[in-house]
Amino acid sequence: MTHLKLRFASHAFPFASVLLLGGTHVACSSVDVPSTGTGGSGAGTMLLPCDVGVVLEAHCQSCHGEKPSFGAPMPLVSYADLVAPAKSDPTKAVYELVSARIHDDAKPMPQAPNPRLDADATAILDAWLAAKAPAATESCANPTSTTATSGAGGSAPACTPDLKLHAEPWTMPKDTGDAYVCFGVDVTVAKKQQIIGIYPGIDNPTIVHHMLMFDMPKAVSPTPTLCDGGSMGGRLVAVWAPGGAGLDFPAEAGLPLEGTRHYMVQIHYSNLNHLEGEKDASGFDLCTTSELRANDADIVAFGGMTFTVPAQGKLDLTCDLLLPKGTADLHVFSGMPHMHRLGTGISATLLPTSGPQVDLGTRTPWDFDAQYWSANVATLKAGDTVRTRCQWENTTSTNVGFGPKTSDEMCFAFAAYWPKVDSLSNWELPALLAKCAKTQ
Ligand code: HEC
Repeated sequence: MTHLKLRFASHAFPFASVLLLGGTHVACSSVDVPSTGTGGSGAGTMLLPCDVGVVLEAHCQSCHGEKPSFGAPMPLVSYADLVAPAKSDPTKAVYELVSARIHDDAKPMPQAPNPRLDADATAILDAWLAAKAPAATESCANPTSTTATSGAGGSAPACTPDLKLHAEPWTMPKDTGDAYVCFGVDVTVAKKQQIIGIYPGIDNPTIVHHMLMFDMPKAVSPTPTLCDGGSMGGRLVAVWAPGGAGLDFPAEAGLPLEGTRHYMVQIHYSNLNHLEGEKDASGFDLCTTSELRANDADIVAFGGMTFTVPAQGKLDLTCDLLLPKGTADLHVFSGMPHMHRLGTGISATLLPTSGPQVDLGTRTPWDFDAQYWSANVATLKAGDTVRTRCQWENTTSTNVGFGPKTSDEMCFAFAAYWPKVDSLSNWELPALLAKCAKTQ
């Protein structure tokens, strides 16, 4: 069993293009599968074709490793793994679902924010899957000892984290497939500081599926406790999904940290394989500085807060916020769209009074399980409009409106910007003031 050791320094999938371009081969694991196995061409040692093994290693095994991580239900390492019955539909072999999911635009594999397979990698898998996954019998030449990369993703932090928001380990019950767990960390500083980087600190990748960090109005119990997946009245500061980066602040600015702050970390755990005794103490790792940068940064929410997604129906909403006269120039450096489970797509766009439109964050299709900050660069000026478009499909039998619980919905496009505007101390104000209408 390999245990993926997460390093901040490792980019999600740095080896893919090197391996494909360089023609290097990785070792294909050799497994004996019974001659009754589906898709095989004979008894004995059946192996993955080398080119298939290369694609799976580069694009899939950070989650579908020998010991699957981040909620992935099965390994994609050996030939036997690919011909085994699929977890979600045991009447199908895993390789049959692979074929569907690499082309599934609504629920693609690899999942966002990891890039989709490029044309070469797709062609390799398509050809093999179309031939019903024939086994190779010869091991790959020139095996290398390339190690699987971490799925924690992101670039290396520009700093050494000194403030860690973690708790005592939580033990995932064997019988629970899915759980949301929350804990609070209070931070008190004597003198003003700034947060200049926020990064995932993943302890046990086998069960961590995604994480959120909130700034709360009051203290939350420091003991990891089952909770609703919603915001519980807090302000979303950071999110992480496998493959997602941290939030780096630009050299001009940091997020102010003064007095006492009540942070809450919310972790979504997944234990689809019902492993026993899996413990985790993941959280967020922050870099702070007392050498204050010239500007305070802040996070605000564009979007809309007044809408109803009809029962068994759809809603396509466009919300415009006109930046009022007198607004100072706002330098946006990262975007994070946010909806709940009924969302199907969201985008935020800057429509300047002159010049080209700028994407402030697009997540179409929307995937609740894959939320991340993505860097962007835009300057918002008085007179400009920020347009947020949210789309939902309500599969439930009740109307669903805006709210903090996971069963409610949201249409927020968070933007990290500087310099902090004090009159935006209510971070929801841009979404509250926006004019929303059904998309024409
Ligand atoms: C960043 C992590 C991650 C990466 C990378 C990733 N997967 Fe997944 N995969 C998951 C998770 C989590 C699930 C379970 C949730 C779901 O089905 O969406 C999953 C589910 C699947 C399923 C459905 C299994 C079933 O029984 O329904 C298939 C098939 C699959 N992945 C194939 C792939 C392939 C092929 C690749 C690479 C080309 C890949 N995945 C890359 C995380 C990942």
